Amino acid sequence: MRIDILTLFPGMFSGFLDGSLLGAARTAGILDIRLVDIRDFAEGPHRQVDDRPFGGGPGMLLMPGPVVSCIEAVQQAARPAGRVLMLTPGGRRLDQAVVEELAAEQRLVLVCGRYEGFDARVKETVAADEISIGDYVLSGGEVAAMVIVDAVARLVPGVLGDEESARQDSFSGADRLVEGPQYTRPREFRGLHVPEVLLSGDHRRIAAWRQEQAVEATRRRTTVPPTPGLARRSTP
Ligand code: ADE
Repeated sequence: MRIDILTLFPGMFSGFLDGSLLGAARTAGILDIRLVDIRDFAEGPHRQVDDRPFGGGPGMLLMPGPVVSCIEAVQQAARPAGRVLMLTPGGRRLDQAVVEELAAEQRLVLVCGRYEGFDARVKETVAADEISIGDYVLSGGEVAAMVIVDAVARLVPGVLGDEESARQDSFSGADRLVEGPQYTRPREFRGLHVPEVLLSGDHRRIAAWRQEQAVEATRRRTTVPPTPGLARRSTP
């Protein structure tokens, strides 16, 4: 899979892309991830990329020229053209179903906004979808692009090494359940014991118990109203 990331801050991605899972997948040629600096497509001696919004208002907007030129250049540089995703807080909300949809593409073009966002004509000029990673505002699309790359890469065959582990992740599969509790050694920790069924060696019972726990964890997450202070641990 090829992913082009268009950004004013390519340096933000270096540690992330070179990290263990993604770094290995890139070295193995499973993922072809490229960073493109939007400022390289700006014109004039100052290579300006942002300007004040018409009609007034706070902050600056990304000018359409450099962004559209950058998108067109990366689309023309390789075939097939990629699916273009602009990262914006107002976009379609990312969830595992969207991640699966994106992982099925051969190529993605992620466009990171900065400042107060994009000039609206970018979206009218290039065929693009807008994606949000949640209802909060980030300083730019870079962190959102990293979230997408991380979540999508796990589903690309060969990246995880163990395909089964992606299939068992929370939100995967037809029922979209979150995973229930999991345990490793020791069998007892500070008086807390690993549930007996997990030590039984009875795979059918274990599978049934895990299914029950997943259903319960999902129900709790979706039906129990959040407590004020969001499950903050009470300090003794
Ligand atoms: N840019 C700023 N906030 C964002 C968000 N929540 N999701 C995606 N891109 C963003």
